[in-house]
Amino acid sequence: MTGQRKIVITAALPYANGAIHLGHMVEHCMLDFWVRFQRARGHECVAICADDTHGTPIMLNAKKQGITPEALVAASKVEHEKVFADFGISYPHYGSTHSPENQRIANRIFKALEEKGHVETRLLKQAYCETDQMFLPDRFIKGTCPRCASVDQYGDGCEVCGAVYAAADLKSPHCAICGRPPVERDSEHVFVKLNDFKDFLKAWVPEHTGPEIAKKLNEWLDGDLQSWCISRDAPYFGFEIPGHKDKYFYVWFDAPVGYLSTLSEWAKSQGKTFEHYWNDPEAERYHLIGKDIVYHHALFWPSMLKAAGLETPNEIMVHGMLQVNGAKMSKSRGTFILASTFNKHLDPTYLRYYLACKLSGGIDDIDFNFDDFVSRVNSDLIGKITNVASRGAQMLQKIGGQMGALSPEGLQLVKVAQALSQEIASHYERRDFAKAMLLIRTIADEANKYFDKYEPWKLVKVDEAATIEILTGILNLFRIMTIYLKPVLPTYASKVEALFQEDPYIWSSAQQVVEYKKLAPFEHLLKRIEPAQIEKIVAETKEILAMQNPTPEETPTISGEAALGLAPTITIDDFQKIDLRVVKIIDAREVEGASKLLQLTLDLGHGVTKQVFSGIKSTYKPSDLIGKHTVMVANLAPRKMKFGLSEGMVLASGDGERLAVLYPDVHAVAGQRIS
Ligand code: 2FM
Ligand code: ZN
Repeated sequence: MTGQRKIVITAALPYANGAIHLGHMVEHCMLDFWVRFQRARGHECVAICADDTHGTPIMLNAKKQGITPEALVAASKVEHEKVFADFGISYPHYGSTHSPENQRIANRIFKALEEKGHVETRLLKQAYCETDQMFLPDRFIKGTCPRCASVDQYGDGCEVCGAVYAAADLKSPHCAICGRPPVERDSEHVFVKLNDFKDFLKAWVPEHTGPEIAKKLNEWLDGDLQSWCISRDAPYFGFEIPGHKDKYFYVWFDAPVGYLSTLSEWAKSQGKTFEHYWNDPEAERYHLIGKDIVYHHALFWPSMLKAAGLETPNEIMVHGMLQVNGAKMSKSRGTFILASTFNKHLDPTYLRYYLACKLSGGIDDIDFNFDDFVSRVNSDLIGKITNVASRGAQMLQKIGGQMGALSPEGLQLVKVAQALSQEIASHYERRDFAKAMLLIRTIADEANKYFDKYEPWKLVKVDEAATIEILTGILNLFRIMTIYLKPVLPTYASKVEALFQEDPYIWSSAQQVVEYKKLAPFEHLLKRIEPAQIEKIVAETKEILAMQNPTPEETPTISGEAALGLAPTITIDDFQKIDLRVVKIIDAREVEGASKLLQLTLDLGHGVTKQVFSGIKSTYKPSDLIGKHTVMVANLAPRKMKFGLSEGMVLASGDGERLAVLYPDVHAVAGQRIS
C-alpha cells in the first residue's frame, strides 16, 4: 500500500420530493462498498450526500399537503437518512441544499462567474399561468405533441414518439395544474455563458470521464454550447440570486453546490474547512452519478468550479440505470420498489450482496431479476458462502468449540485465498464488484470441496483431532472470505467478528491465520429467501401506488356493483391515460353506404379538429347534433374504416338501439380536459 489517500466521494443528491427506491439504492450501495473498501485499506474516505431540496415540484407538493416547503424537506431528510441507515449506508453528515452554507457557496460561485464576465441577462418569453400566477416550467405545461399529435404530453418532450421540443412548440398547451391555456410573458433571466468554457471542457472531459461518456459529451462540445439559464421567477422554492431581485437560482445551479456545502459542514465539525479536502491537490474527489445526469456534472459543474477557482473532480464515475425484470421500474407492475418496502420484508444484506454481484463498474443498465436474485442469495450467499461457516462452526462446537492448528493442506488453501487479496482489491478499486464477488466465491468452492473430501461428519466418529484440523482450515477460509466481503456485507462481517471473538476486520486481517481459537456460540448468519417474500413486496408496492392515487370515495362499493357488471377496477393512473375532452360538433353528416354511422367533425379548440365515425345514426339526425357540445376520447389510436379515418370516439350510452350522446354542462368549453 502506498501512503494514505485523502478521498471525497459523493452520491447524487436525491430529490427531497420523493421516497428512496431501489434505483437510488444502486448508487448508494455502490458508493458504500467503495468507501468501506477504501477505509478497510487504511485510507481517509469521506462519503458525502444530502437532499436536493429546491424547485417547483417541491413547492407545489408542499402546497398540496398544506405545509411549507421547509417542513416538507425537513420530513423528507429524516426519512431518507433513516432508509440509508437501515441499508448500512451511513454518511458522516447528511446535508441539505436548503442550508445557509449552501446559499453562501452558491452565491460565491455565482459572484465569481459574474465578476469574470461569464453571466449575461436577457429577456425570455415564457408560458405563464394567469390562474396560478406563475411561470410554468416545461414539466408543468402539457399539450399535443407537434410531431406525432399525441395528446397530453409534457412541455419538454413526447413520451409517445420521443420527440424533444420546446414547450412553445406544443399544440393546445395547457397548465398541468389548472388545465387552462397559459399566456406568453416576458421575463428577464440570468444565463451562464457556457461557451466561454468550451476549450476548458474539451480538454477536461476526456480526462475526467470514461471513454463512452467522453464520446457522447464530445458530440455536444463539437458545436457551440448554448448559454445556460440559471434563474427562475418567483414563486420558487430556492435561493434568491444576489443582485437579481425576485430571481431564484434554478435547482440545478445550487444542487451540486450541495456537495461542497455538506462537505464544508462536516469538515467544520472536524475542526477543518472544506478546502482542506476539496482544494488540496493531493486529495481525490469523485462524483458517483447515474448516466442520466452526466450533462450537469461534466459540463455545468466543472465550469462553475473553474470560475470560482475551486478544484474540479478527479473523475465523474458513471453507472447505468436500474431495471427490474428486464424493464423500467413500473408502479403498476409493482416493480417500483421503495427501499423501505424492501427492508420491511427482506434483509438489506441480500440487496447489497445481489447488487455487488451485478455491478461491474460500467455504464450498462443493471437488471434486478427476481428469480436471479433469489437464486444468487440462496445458492451463492447462503448455500455456498454461509454454508462453509455453518458446517464448520456447528461441527466444531459439538466437539469443544476450540480451533486447532492448520494441516499443511489447509494452510496451502489459506495461502491461496490470502494471495487473492491484491486481485480482489483491484476489482473493488475499479468498482468491478461483480468480479470481486466471483473471486470470493472461488474460495467458498475450495472450502466446500475440502470439507466434502474429508467428510468430517464421518471422521469425527473416529478421529477428533484430525476433524478439528480440517474444521480449522474451513473456518480460516470462511474468515478470509468474510474480510473480503466486509465492504459489501458489514453487518454479516460483524457477526463473524463476534463468532471469532476478534476486533473489527480491516483488509490486512486476511493475512493472519487463526489457530487454537475458542469460538463464540454459533448464531445463524442469514436465512434463505422465500419467494413469497418477493410476492409480498410486489403486492405492497402496488398498494402504495393505490394509496398515492386513491380511488375517489364516490366509487360505488355497494352490493349492486356485481349486478352492474362493472369492468375490473383501474387505478387513477390508468384513468388518466384516457384523454377525455369537451368538443363541439361542428359538422355531422350521413355516410354513404353506412346504415348506422354518422360522420362527425369535432372541434377541440385551438384550431384542432378531429373526424369521428360514430354509430349513433339510429337516434340522431345530423341537424340534431351540429353546434352541440359532447365528450370524446381524444387519444384513442386512429382507426382506419372503410369510409375514412376515425380519430377518436364520442361518449354515448344505450342499448345499441337508442343511444344517448353525453352532453356536458353549458359552462363546458371545447378543448377542456375532463379529469
Ligand atoms: O437527478 C436527481 O435526482 C438530482 N436530484 C441529482 C442532483 S445531483 C447534484 F447535482 F446535486
Ligand atoms: Zn394554471
